[in-house]
Amino acid sequence: MNENGQIEARRQLDIIETCKQEIADRARELGRPLTYHISTFGCQMNFKDSEKLAGILEQLGYVEACDEKADFVLLNTCTVRENANLKVYGHLGILKSYKKKNPNMMIALCGCMMQEDVVLKKIQESYRFVDIIFGTHNIYKLAELIQTRMHSNRMVIDIWKDAKEIVEDLPSVRKYSFKAGVNIMFGCNNFCTYCIVPYVRGRERSREPEDIIAEIECMVRDGVVEVMLLGQNVNSYGKTLEQKITFAELLRRVEQIEGLKRIRFMTSHPKDLSDDLIAVMKDSNKICRHIHLPVQCGSSRLLEKMNRRYTKEQYLALVRKIREAMPDISLTTDIMVGFPGETEEDFQDTIDVVRQAEYDSCYTFIYSKRTGTPAAKEEQVPEEIVKERFQRLLDVVAEESAKRTGRLEGRTAEVLVEGVSEQDSSMVTGRLSNNLLVHFPGTEDMIGKLIMVRLDEAKGFYYIGSVVE
Ligand code: SAH
Ligand code: SF4
Ligand code: F3S
Repeated sequence: MNENGQIEARRQLDIIETCKQEIADRARELGRPLTYHISTFGCQMNFKDSEKLAGILEQLGYVEACDEKADFVLLNTCTVRENANLKVYGHLGILKSYKKKNPNMMIALCGCMMQEDVVLKKIQESYRFVDIIFGTHNIYKLAELIQTRMHSNRMVIDIWKDAKEIVEDLPSVRKYSFKAGVNIMFGCNNFCTYCIVPYVRGRERSREPEDIIAEIECMVRDGVVEVMLLGQNVNSYGKTLEQKITFAELLRRVEQIEGLKRIRFMTSHPKDLSDDLIAVMKDSNKICRHIHLPVQCGSSRLLEKMNRRYTKEQYLALVRKIREAMPDISLTTDIMVGFPGETEEDFQDTIDVVRQAEYDSCYTFIYSKRTGTPAAKEEQVPEEIVKERFQRLLDVVAEESAKRTGRLEGRTAEVLVEGVSEQDSSMVTGRLSNNLLVHFPGTEDMIGKLIMVRLDEAKGFYYIGSVVE
């Protein structure tokens, strides 16, 4: 971390200390601790941010509440598709009624949606009961923003257009004791023409490898056995650093961490996936056998319009190369239907990729027009056509994944146990290296452990297994 980042981190820790006293005074007046709740929308990046925000709130003395009827409610928003935005306005409507009953309640909004001027304006005009608004670049300032709000009667707004320094080492909580997400980079420079992420998350910035390694080592000492390295395009990791390093090299270094058992990463942009990365994965005992490789669409013509910088043929060649090196790999993808100008022929190319790539699962989306992105200005495909294509895509995806279910039946594989099964308390649920779920008879003390399990029966998206003695 650079010097400015260190100074800012120390400043925030001091603020946390003074703010903590004020929160404690309020709790004494009320005769109970103050509570918080964070609702998180969107991707892994946002979930990771929420853990950092929860870390600050807990340092301040807030105690987690199970729902949004809390003293401090934070919505960490996403704006990747329009329906993500609509959900937030829905929540705000409900929060308004809660605040009427609890006038001490503080409502805060943060995340990607807040980086959009139109959203900010709308909230300032129509949602006056919101107390604090901040964006994606200054989440580490939460305590300072709360303190400012406590000493003023106005809505506190602090949104930065882009990031300054990366501020490390502030408190964070983890949802799971045995697995954790680790940011390796922030922002995105790709500007796919449909996507709003580069506008709301700013330019690509990588963290120093030493900071990443130190964070993971600390997590491992704390009981973490699996990490998920996070970035919008992990394959371009290191490009912004003074001392250049590739993602494959970073993985080699993470692999060396003693006590760490599994490494995952998200997301891989196909254009930057290197031969070196494939080689590192192939030789690794820790890197999981799963790559999320979003294709978006199968038409080379549309891929160019999307600014994805690969063709259908290049993508399929990459899939073949990966499978040749690692036949047991699981591939998953993101697919979008209805990008402006999509013809039936383009759509058939997408179907063709789904038929050829043998994905374990596909995350499918209807294109959503995002104001400010280049594609928003293009002529849109009529809704009925998009809906009909989307349904056909879902049918093909289901048909293709049915062909793949059961392929591991009868095999024995290592499972990381994640928890007691929600349906049956005599069963536990865990994950294979390739990310598929397995349920098997077990006990709570297995959580966080790697256990050899025989995959007795395939059930579509998961297996039922039994422990191998
Ligand atoms: N950085 C990742 C994607 C992050 S957003 C990558 O490039 O692969 C997650 C997914 O949301 C994308 O892969 C895309 O399929 C989808 N998405 C992004 N913008 C969208 C839009 N405007 N409409 C519909 N889906 C979109
Ligand atoms: Fe969006 Fe493309 Fe960046 Fe992914 S790589 S976040 S789809 S601009
Ligand atoms: Fe959404 Fe922001 Fe992630 S827009 S998908 S939460 S980076």
